[in-house]
Amino acid sequence: MAFPQSFMDELVARSDIVDVVGSYVQLARKGSNLFGLCPFHNEKTGSFSVSPDKQIYYCFGCKKGGGVVNFIMDIENLTFPDAVRFLAKRAGLEVPEETGDREAGRHRQRLLDLNRDAARFYYQMLQQPEGRAVQAYLDRRQIRRATAVKFGMGASLDSWDALLTAMTKKGYTKSELLDAGLVVQNRNGGLYDKFRNRLMLPVIDTRGDVVAFGSRVLDKSEPKYMNSSETPVYSKRRVLYGLNLAKKTKRPNIILCEGNLDIVTLHQAGFDNAVASMGTALTVEQTRLLSRFTKELVLCYDNDNAGKIATERALQILNSSEFSVKVLQLPRRLVDGEYVKQDADDFIKFQGPDAFERLLNGSENGVEFRMAQVAGKYDLTNDEARVAYCEEISGLLASLPSAVEREIYAFRAAELAKITPEAMKQEVQRAFKRRLAQEKKAELRKDLNPTAQLQPKDRSLRYDNIRSARAEEGVLRLLLLDESLFPAEMPLKPEQFSSPLLGRVFGLLWQVREAGRLPSAALLSNELSSEEMSHITAICQQPESVQNGRQALADYIRIIQTEADKRTGAAADPLLAATEKYKDKKGTGGKQHG
Ligand code: UTP
Ligand code: MN
Repeated sequence: MAFPQSFMDELVARSDIVDVVGSYVQLARKGSNLFGLCPFHNEKTGSFSVSPDKQIYYCFGCKKGGGVVNFIMDIENLTFPDAVRFLAKRAGLEVPEETGDREAGRHRQRLLDLNRDAARFYYQMLQQPEGRAVQAYLDRRQIRRATAVKFGMGASLDSWDALLTAMTKKGYTKSELLDAGLVVQNRNGGLYDKFRNRLMLPVIDTRGDVVAFGSRVLDKSEPKYMNSSETPVYSKRRVLYGLNLAKKTKRPNIILCEGNLDIVTLHQAGFDNAVASMGTALTVEQTRLLSRFTKELVLCYDNDNAGKIATERALQILNSSEFSVKVLQLPRRLVDGEYVKQDADDFIKFQGPDAFERLLNGSENGVEFRMAQVAGKYDLTNDEARVAYCEEISGLLASLPSAVEREIYAFRAAELAKITPEAMKQEVQRAFKRRLAQEKKAELRKDLNPTAQLQPKDRSLRYDNIRSARAEEGVLRLLLLDESLFPAEMPLKPEQFSSPLLGRVFGLLWQVREAGRLPSAALLSNELSSEEMSHITAICQQPESVQNGRQALADYIRIIQTEADKRTGAAADPLLAATEKYKDKKGTGGKQHG
C-alpha cells in the first residue's frame, strides 16, 4: 500500500539513521561518518558506515546500502510496508491504514494482543513453582534456561481454567478467547483451556507477533504435540517455527526440519538458521516466505520413511523454485546391534554439534544430490545420452574446488556412465582448466578496464555511456547532499540521462522537491529495488565537494546534455553522427573507441 507523503516525511524525520542503526550496530565516529562492523556480512574490521548528513548507510565490504527504511527491511527482513510499520511503532507514530479493513484489522490486533498476553502468562507460570513439571521436562531434554527464554517457552498448568481466568481478568471476551483458539467450548457451552499441563512453544512470525502455540506433553501420552487451530491470525501454511530467529542468521542457508524441538536443539548448538514446518509438508507459501531470507535450503528431515517421503515432497515443490537445495541425511544410530531412527535433536545429543557442522558443510551430500539430479535427466542405456551426461557431469565436477573431490566423484560418474575412470578424469580435468582460464580472463579484464569498477554490480543496471553516467551520478550526489542546489527550473529531463535508473531517481527527487518536501535517499526506498538502492547509496558515498557545488552541478548538467544531444542527434542525422565520431577520435588522439 502507499503511505501518505506527509506521514512518510514525518516517519523519516523521526527515525534518525544513527539512532536506528545504533541499536543494532556499535558505531564509532570517524570524521563526518560513523563506522562499525557490518551486520550483513562477517567481518573483523568495520567497513560499515553511517552518514548522519546524508541519512544513509553503506558497507564498503558487501556494498549494501540505503536509507533508514532499507536498513530495517534488510536487518529485520521485512517488506517495505512492514518496515514502515516497524519504524512507526518505534517512533510512536500512528500508521494511517485503509479504512475498509479497519474493523477486521482491529479484531486481528486484539487476537495478537491476546496471544502475546497468553504467552506472557505461560512464561510466568514456567518461572513459578507450579511450572516445576515443565522445568523438569526441559532439564530432561537438556534445554537450557537461556534457550527457553529465547524461544519464549512457557508452561500451561494442570488446570481447566488457569488461562481462561487470567485472560478474562485482563478484559478479553469469551469470543476473543475462542477465536484465538486458546479455549474450547464443551457441549453445555462451558469454556475450558485448550492447553493443559504442557510445554508451551509460542509460534512467532517474522514480524515478531505471537500468532499461535505449539505444545508438547511431558510424558508418553497422546497427542504428543498439540498446536493452535487456524485462526484469523494464524495460517499454518504460511508460518515456519523459528523463522523469527533464523531470519537474522549470518549462515548462508536455512535448515528445514520436521520438529519444533529439533529447532530448539539446533539453535542451542549454534545452528541459528534452523526452522521447522511443524510436522506438515512444506508448502509453496512457506517457500515464498523463505525466499525473502535465503537462496539456499538444507532439508534435514528425519531419517525414517516418513522423513524420506517429506523430503521427496519438499524436493518436488522446490524443483521449480530458484533455491539451491541440499539434502542433509542424518545417519541412523546403532543401538544394541540395531539401527534406529535419529532426528536432528538426537543427532546433536549423541554425535555433537561438530559432527552436525561436518554434515552441513560436507559438500558431499550436495554433490551427490546434484549428481543424482543430472543423472536423472539422461537415459544412460542410450549412447548419445551417455555422451551428453559425461559432458554435463564434468562441467559440474569441474566446479568443485578440491582436486580430491573432483577425482572421487569423477570415478563415481564413470561407473554410472560405464566408461573408464581415466576418460572421465580427463574430461573433468579439461573442463576444470577451461574454467580456470575463463576466470583468469575475467580478472584480467577487470584490471585492464578501470571503468568496469564503476559499473553497477547488477548487470541490468550497466551503464552504456560512462562519461554521461559519471556526470549523472554527480548530479544526484550533489542534490542529495545539499538541497539548496536544486535549480528553480528542472534543468534536465529524466530521459536525457543515459542510465535509466539514474534518470528515474532524478525524476523522483524532483517530484519530492516539487511537492515542497525535503529530498533524501530514505524516501527512495519504496521506489527502488534493494540492488538499485545499494547502487544509489554507493554513488552518494563517493567524494564530492559541496563548496563549488553550483559550478560542479552546471558542469555535470552540460556533459549530460551534450551526450544526450549526441544520442538524439545521431538518431536523427547519420551524417552528424559520423562527424561526431570523427571528432571523438581526434579528441582522444585518434585512438579507436571500443
Ligand atoms: P515427531 O513425532 O517426529 O516428534 O514430530 P519430535 O519432533 O521428534 O518430538 P520429540 O523429540 O519426541 O519431542 C515432528 C513434529 O510434528 C508435529 C510437531 O510439530 C512435531 O515437532 N506433530 C507431531 C504434531 O503436530 N502432532 C503430533 O501429534 C506429532
Ligand atoms: Mn525428536
